[in-house]
Amino acid sequence: MTASLTETSRADRVARPRHFVMCRPTHFTVSYEINPWMDTTQAVDADVALAQWEELKATHERLGHTVDVVPGVPGLPDMVYAANGALLTAEGNVGVRFTHPERAGEAEAYASWLEENGFGPVHRPVETNEGEGDLLVVGDHLLAGFGFRTALTAHAELARVLGREVTSLELVDPRFYHLDTALTVLDDDPAHPDVAYFPGAFSPAAQAVLQRLFPDALLTDEETAAVLGMNAVSDGLHVVLSPRAQRYADLLAERGYQPVPVDLSELLKGGGGAKCCTLVVRR
Ligand code: ARG
Repeated sequence: MTASLTETSRADRVARPRHFVMCRPTHFTVSYEINPWMDTTQAVDADVALAQWEELKATHERLGHTVDVVPGVPGLPDMVYAANGALLTAEGNVGVRFTHPERAGEAEAYASWLEENGFGPVHRPVETNEGEGDLLVVGDHLLAGFGFRTALTAHAELARVLGREVTSLELVDPRFYHLDTALTVLDDDPAHPDVAYFPGAFSPAAQAVLQRLFPDALLTDEETAAVLGMNAVSDGLHVVLSPRAQRYADLLAERGYQPVPVDLSELLKGGGGAKCCTLVVRR
């Protein structure tokens, strides 16, 4: 039976300790434009970016989570967006293959680091997929975005490699080019999965699929999505999100979650927020 909001709401929220991989933005800058957020004429303050990232890492740790840090590589400024480094599931690890040549080198940097550091074998994909940017695990569902980055053909490859069903969701707004810019996994417990999303980022068909899978989902507005509010990290209770997404924070609090604002304004210049900087390890 599908759990309804009333069964899972408010006081029942439980934080579960997580294991994350992050990449310190030592080499972060905006030197090319591959999404509408990036503007090479706008200066990036490297020290502020680093301090904000350290605050995100410290926040995860303060909430009881483990963070492993993968070293950044010179010339790969977007490597800070660790969510794009892989998809790590109980069924196995899948590496990535980027749409844009500027990011191509990150794929092997992540895959080999993960293998060398005891995360287990990483499948090197044939089709284009941008990892947890477009691939989100919610309970028994593996949600997969397509339309801008991850190819629809990659969804079939993932289903084959992981032996699980993949739910394809078409993204239609270039500002929300990755699934994790349009949808937050609030609770990934299979017994009471919970998500929030901005419907306008999805095709009508994808909206219908989400409505069927998550009839009680929290629907957000364009204002929230437009500050990358959806790009948030939840442990089932605490939701780390942009301080600019105040309305979203209020809605989350009403729903029994604890919003934890962390300002990542410099990393937003690359088109990423808290979730983009956080890869989830599942074993
Ligand atoms: N500049 C990066 C890109 O456009 C940002 C990636 C953000 N990551 C994410 N998981 N949404 O590819």
